[in-house]
Amino acid sequence: MERANAKNAARAAVSGEAAAAAATAAAFSLLSHRRPLWYLLLPLLAVITLWLLLFSSRPASPSVTLLTASVASPSPLRRCSGRYIYVQELPPRFNRDMIPDCWNLSIWTDLCQFSINGGLGPFLSNSAAVFSGAGWHVTDQFSLEVIFHSRMKNYPCLTSDSSLASAVYVPFYAGIDFTRHIWAGDNITVRDSTALDLVDWLTSRPEWAAMGGRDHFFICLLAKMYMGMSEPNDVSVPYPTYFHPSEDGEVMEWQERMRLAARPWLFSFAGAPRPNMADSIRGELMEQCRGSRRCKLLDCGGDERRCYSPEKVMALFGSSVFCLQPKGDSYTRRSAFDAMVAGCVPVFFLPETAYWQYRWHLPENGSRYSVLVAEEEVKKGAVRVEEVLMRLGEEEVRGMREEVVRMIPGLVYGNPMNNKMEKMKDAFDLAVERVIKRVQRRKRELRRS
Ligand SMILES: *[C@@H]1O[C@H](CO)[C@@H](O)[C@H](O)[C@H]1NC(C)=O
Ligand SMILES: *[C@@H]1O[C@H](CO)[C@@H](O)[C@H](O)[C@H]1NC(C)=O
Ligand SMILES: *[C@@H]1O[C@H](CO)[C@@H](O)[C@H](O)[C@H]1NC(C)=O
Repeated sequence: MERANAKNAARAAVSGEAAAAAATAAAFSLLSHRRPLWYLLLPLLAVITLWLLLFSSRPASPSVTLLTASVASPSPLRRCSGRYIYVQELPPRFNRDMIPDCWNLSIWTDLCQFSINGGLGPFLSNSAAVFSGAGWHVTDQFSLEVIFHSRMKNYPCLTSDSSLASAVYVPFYAGIDFTRHIWAGDNITVRDSTALDLVDWLTSRPEWAAMGGRDHFFICLLAKMYMGMSEPNDVSVPYPTYFHPSEDGEVMEWQERMRLAARPWLFSFAGAPRPNMADSIRGELMEQCRGSRRCKLLDCGGDERRCYSPEKVMALFGSSVFCLQPKGDSYTRRSAFDAMVAGCVPVFFLPETAYWQYRWHLPENGSRYSVLVAEEEVKKGAVRVEEVLMRLGEEEVRGMREEVVRMIPGLVYGNPMNNKMEKMKDAFDLAVERVIKRVQRRKRELRRS
């Protein structure tokens, strides 16, 4: 009975996401003649989903104190105490097999980059000297599930004993799975089949039984608007950017360069208008940008892929003080992360774009690193962004940029194949730390009740 409950809840967790995405995906099916661009158009949001199910059942009370037992050498013990992760190895149909699949489907060409360099994609050539020496790749936003998995394989505190683990990672490529079905135009039965298969497989495992899945988590690129408070088990994590450093020194070198970079443009925008979305302010912002000699526009109208040139995008952000981040198809934008990595202070128009989403990775006080201009005001024509930005004092602006530059390590995913970062925590480290904290809290709550 208990297991049936767990399965139903888990089913909802997996296929519910898919259902949420279906409406959007259906809207884009009209664009079938432009198939290869679909995935650029899907509104995406990377989240960590914790399978901390809410129904009540008594877990087999695994306890944090167990962690001090049976570990070989004392130094990793201290270092890893309370940080052990158990990776639930899955049959390859739930992850690896989804990637070789792409080689014989031409529409997947772009996504075949997943299999290169642990998901980072090919190295970026640095012909325009926009990037620093090492650590730059042509990274697709879809590859986060693969990058996270590769990173986890080299996590220093893995354990093969699930009873010692603080959390259980499930390397399911949920977003890739969903997308390949959307692409093929599959019906719901087919679309959800792998996810439901996973639920059956996972819930029959002893690792699941220990806590009814409450300590399990996976990463997933969703087609969803945003994670509100109503979804306590999903937390947004940063999109991958092009920067994947291997060492602290690489990050510090880049931070210093962005601190000192000449920024001739007060503000800039890279994106396309959304003429079909009546409430979009992008058209208005692009007009404002065209009308200002302090603004630089990278107009992606007609072909969004023009804006997927890492050189162009990063050179633009690296030479701008502020980067406009109006919502596109979804509230969040990968571009916001590319901008911050380039030391550009983001200008948001809705709190959903960042403040309400990235609670683990961005400072709680949004004013410290960004500017918020109310979307409504722009829509009414009551505000010119340039005037808002010109009113800010030099010190204030420098403070925001300094904060953005300080945040860079936590906004990038380090190189999973060669990670020698010691002092700095990257986006992966921060996410894992917070997952573990949550699971610990949940365990304490369960023990009390
Ligand atoms: C496509 O790839 C799969 C797995 O790699 C393989 O089994 C299959 O034969 C390939 N199909 C074609 C048409 O090449
Ligand atoms: C969904 O598609 C599969 C394969 O094309 C087919 O066998 C099945 O009958 C379809 N199911 C529904 C409910 O349409
Ligand atoms: C948020 O940060 C701004 C700028 O640093 C500061 O002026 C303000 O007092 C802070 N607000 C809170 C609630 O801490």
